[in-house]
Amino acid sequence: MTAKIIALMGSPLQEGNTGKLLDEAIRGAKDAGCSVARINVCDLNFSGCMEYFCCEKEEKCCIEDEFSPFLKRFKNMDGLIIATPVMTMGIPGQLKSFMDRFQVYFMAKYFRKQPIISKEQKKWRRTLLLSIGGMNIENDFDGIRLSTDAFCDIIDCPYYDGVFQNNMDVIKDITTKSEIMEAAYKKSFEMCREIIENKEKYS
Ligand SMILES: Cc1cc2nc3c(=O)[nH]c(=O)nc-3n(C[C@H](O)[C@H](O)[C@H](O)COP(=O)(O)O)c2cc1C
Repeated sequence: MTAKIIALMGSPLQEGNTGKLLDEAIRGAKDAGCSVARINVCDLNFSGCMEYFCCEKEEKCCIEDEFSPFLKRFKNMDGLIIATPVMTMGIPGQLKSFMDRFQVYFMAKYFRKQPIISKEQKKWRRTLLLSIGGMNIENDFDGIRLSTDAFCDIIDCPYYDGVFQNNMDVIKDITTKSEIMEAAYKKSFEMCREIIENKEKYS
């Protein structure tokens, strides 16, 4: 049995440090037997949530743009990898806007009590978070973690684990931190094995 992973890339620099870390995680996911679709969020042309509240009444968003197909793609995926730099102590704007559009899932789950994701799917869906920050400060990833936790809950793709590296302004090249590159590969591999095993067991 195969499992579908979406790899969400939040940095505008596709070949930057976030991109290199994500490539390791994608390699781990593929080695574990999953298919992976990398989505470069900054390449998409879409709006943030405009609070039109169509999703309060039905499972749809009134805004039709390049985000629209992802409402269905996120229902069909088995796991998620999010790779993001810290910007202004949180998730960069484009990626955050992408996440906000999942208000459709929030309304279905919490307002109308008709969750889009089945109870069975929740048993195997998992999210891995990769994040890097330039500064060497405490709490650098707090904003990222809070938003990611909320997002994982809204889309019913529970948080599995994370790989974090701050101080990138000094480190400059993430490939010099072999333990971080290895952690991205290993955690992704292990998460994806678990997804496949649980999908076989529960579907
Ligand atoms: C607009 C902007 C805001 C940033 N804000 C923060 C921040 O609040 N905290 C931090 O640690 N690094 C911050 N950084 C630094 C990035 O997190 C860091 O350079 C990271 O390595 C970028 O990864 P990338 O090259 O893969 O995009 C910021 C960078 C930019 C461009």
